[in-house]
Amino acid sequence: MTRRDFINSTSASYASLLAWGMLPAAPASALDLPANGQRNDGKGRKVIILGAGLAGLTTAYELGKLGYDCTILEARSRSGGRVWTVRGGTKETEIDGGLAQTCSFAEGHYFNGGAARIPHHHQLTLQYCRELGVPLQIFNGANESAYLYNEGGTGNLANQRMRISDYHNDMRGYTSELLAKALDQSALDQQLTKEDVDKLIDFLKNEGDLNTAHLYKGTNRRGYKSKSDPGAGNAPGTLTDPFGLTDLLRSGFMQPVFYNVGDYAYEQQTTLLQPVGGMDAIPKAFEKKLTEKIIFNAPVTELRKTDNGVRIVYKKDGKPVELTGEFCVCTLPLPMLKTLESDLSGTVKRAADFIPYMKTGKIGLQFKRRFWEEDDGIYGGISRTNMDINQIWYPSFSLQGQKGVLIGYYNFYSRAEAVGALSIADREKLALEQGSKVHPQYPAEFDNSFSLAWHRIPYSGGGWAVYDDATRKKYYPALLEPDDNIYFAGEHTTYLTAWMAGAFTSARRTVEAIHARVGGYTKN
Ligand code: ALA
Repeated sequence: MTRRDFINSTSASYASLLAWGMLPAAPASALDLPANGQRNDGKGRKVIILGAGLAGLTTAYELGKLGYDCTILEARSRSGGRVWTVRGGTKETEIDGGLAQTCSFAEGHYFNGGAARIPHHHQLTLQYCRELGVPLQIFNGANESAYLYNEGGTGNLANQRMRISDYHNDMRGYTSELLAKALDQSALDQQLTKEDVDKLIDFLKNEGDLNTAHLYKGTNRRGYKSKSDPGAGNAPGTLTDPFGLTDLLRSGFMQPVFYNVGDYAYEQQTTLLQPVGGMDAIPKAFEKKLTEKIIFNAPVTELRKTDNGVRIVYKKDGKPVELTGEFCVCTLPLPMLKTLESDLSGTVKRAADFIPYMKTGKIGLQFKRRFWEEDDGIYGGISRTNMDINQIWYPSFSLQGQKGVLIGYYNFYSRAEAVGALSIADREKLALEQGSKVHPQYPAEFDNSFSLAWHRIPYSGGGWAVYDDATRKKYYPALLEPDDNIYFAGEHTTYLTAWMAGAFTSARRTVEAIHARVGGYTKN
């Protein structure tokens, strides 16, 4: 029997296969499971987990492997927390008098309202997808064919959309030309030898596609004029002309909102991934491993310390229910924690009060036709604007299908606050009006929408924790230590805020801490 046959023919868990040396070890940072013989140290110990988001699910899953008796209390009727895929039938009513929405996207269409992309270096996230059998596909984040649109620039390029590729190629060309000029005029001679200069010029010629005179006169990297692509017979194609440098400089595209984050930001560099069928495939896969351990529609109202553990009060069908346990792992987002009646220490309460959360929103727009693909050749990726919609995300799945759902805005801070404060109908109106400036096809092709503002979503109250140096120093440490028998987990207890990887790694940290405390496995 080969190793693979053995693995396929047994129901052995990943953990035991790993412990028996049957699977290649995941990176040390990803998995550090206890040895097989120590797996039942938690047997019978009761742990109450608040929240069935990724941190809560992972905590229950990992503690379960060690024999603990876990119960997850979840306020919503679904798991996943801020991992939430919006599709036909999804319902939500925001706080502060928000209108009830029911999504009416067509079968097979959706958008990820919360977590929506997995960086290739988030090994723990990828590891859990592998372990739980969640199939992944590419999420196309950086698409040079998508657009930039700046409202209010000056000069010839004002108020018109521009392909990202045109902007990048032209700016690379001009900046390379200018630097080459400086080098040609020996401006940098003091720092560089003649040979160094030659090499740097070779680099610049390639980087900016400069001609032999070291001038930027356009580049075939920008592609061809519309309807004059190269083809059969007598059709060599007509290349596009570059924009002028001063026009580009006056266009407004140098604002931070247009930065090339697809290249610059570590978390957004290719390759990005997403689960096939929606990000909620991850919490759903955990749910399958946690049958009967999650109590849904059970909002927690009190979090109390007892002599030897914890006492939690939650509401079920409008009535208070009490649950006691040895430990509590609280994964509630801080905006929720601060509203809870609790015996938490002053330092934890202050952390909940003073660590701010991101205001952020998205709208899914269903269109009758995938005009961004058919007319504009955009398959996935993101267009960026300086308007309140901020970004437009194109789906990386169901390519060339009948209909499509794109994310019509993804905004933050004051933009998200302003747009989130609008009625559902006005959010849609704004998304369509502003989006039409990038895609004039919007009005003719629009079907329906579903919008959300995370700071107004019940049981979340924000997108993710936002730290600065001061809050990290002053409030963060309180969340890393247990408050008697209450532990904390969630992206807000990590340096990976705003990422699923934060939820996962925090859960594992907490599991290790509890297990070490009861005399089970310790790392060292
Ligand atoms: N991690 C979040 C995103 O990808 C913030 O947009």
